[in-house]
Amino acid sequence: MEKRKIILDCDPGHDDAIAIMLAGKSPYVDLLGITVVAGNQTIEKTVRNALNVCQHLNIDVPVHGGCGQPMIRHRQMIADDIHGKTGLDGPIFEELTRRAEDKHGVNYIIDTLMESDGDITVVTTGPMTNLAMAMRMEPRIIPKIQEIVLMGGSMGLGNVTPAAEFNIIADADAAFVCFTSGRPITMMGLDVTRKVLCVPQVVERMDKIKNKASQLFVDLMRHFNKSQKEVFGWEGGPLHDPVTIAYLIDPSVVTLKAMNTEIDIRSTSSYGRTNCEFFNYNKKEANSNVAVDIDVEKFWDIIEQGIRNYQ
Ligand code: BDR
Ligand code: CA
Repeated sequence: MEKRKIILDCDPGHDDAIAIMLAGKSPYVDLLGITVVAGNQTIEKTVRNALNVCQHLNIDVPVHGGCGQPMIRHRQMIADDIHGKTGLDGPIFEELTRRAEDKHGVNYIIDTLMESDGDITVVTTGPMTNLAMAMRMEPRIIPKIQEIVLMGGSMGLGNVTPAAEFNIIADADAAFVCFTSGRPITMMGLDVTRKVLCVPQVVERMDKIKNKASQLFVDLMRHFNKSQKEVFGWEGGPLHDPVTIAYLIDPSVVTLKAMNTEIDIRSTSSYGRTNCEFFNYNKKEANSNVAVDIDVEKFWDIIEQGIRNYQ
C-alpha cells in the first residue's frame, strides 16, 4: 500500500503530540514535515513542544514555525487551562538540541505543495491560519492539495462556546478560507472526538507496552486527563487530534457524510460555529465530508499499534 504523504500543521498540545507520535512511524503515512501554529499556547511554546516530541521519539522530519496570530483578528486565543503553562505540561524532556528550520511554515507549505504532483494531504490539528495564509499568498497551491483533513468544528455543541470549537473559533477567518477553497475537506469534529475518551483503562493499556512512546503517552495523558476533568468533568479527555491520522491509517475508523459546512464569521454568540447541513434541507452543495461516527475500539487499536511502532 502506498503511503499517504502529509504535512502535519499543529499546535502541540497534548493531543497534537499524540498525532505527531501516530504519524511519525506509521507504515501508512509519509510525514514530510511539521508546521506549527499558535493555539494551545503561544507560537514560541508550540514550536518548542513539537521539537521536544520529535527529538524524544527520534522523528526525523523538518519542523517549521508558522503564524503566531490569527489572519485578521487581533486576539490570539490559547488553551492553557487544558494544556498548561508550557502547552505540554506533564512530561519532562531531555535538553532540547533540535532546532526549527529557518523557513517560515507558510512558505514551507507553499514550496512543498508547488513542487508536488498534487499528492500531498494537509492535516491540520490547530487553528487553520498557516494553511489559509499559504492559500492566500500562493493560490496556485490550492489545486495541488490532495485533501485537507482537519480536527476542528462540531455539528453539535462546541467546547469554547456552546456554538464553537477551539481550532475554528481561534481563527474562524482561516477556517472560512479553507472551507471555501473547493478542495476535498474532511472534518473530524467534536461529534466523533468526544467519543474517544482516554479513560484510565486506556492509559493502563498503553502503559503496558513499555517503550518510549508509551511512557510519553502516559505522561501526557495524566496531565491532560486531570485538566479535562477540572474543566469539563470527563473521566478521560477526548483524544481529538489523533483521529485525523487514524483516519489516514484506516479510513474505515470513521463514518463520513458529505454535506455543506459553512463557517460562521459574522455573528457574535455563534461566531466560529461550523454550520453543517446534515439534512440538507437547504439543498446546498456539499463542500466537506464530516465524520458522524467513529469505531472506538478500532481507534484505540490504531493508537496501540502506533505506540508499538516505536519498539
Ligand atoms: C482542539 O483544541 C485543542 O485544544 C486541541 O489540541 C484540539 O486540537 C479540540 O477542540
Ligand atoms: Ca490541537
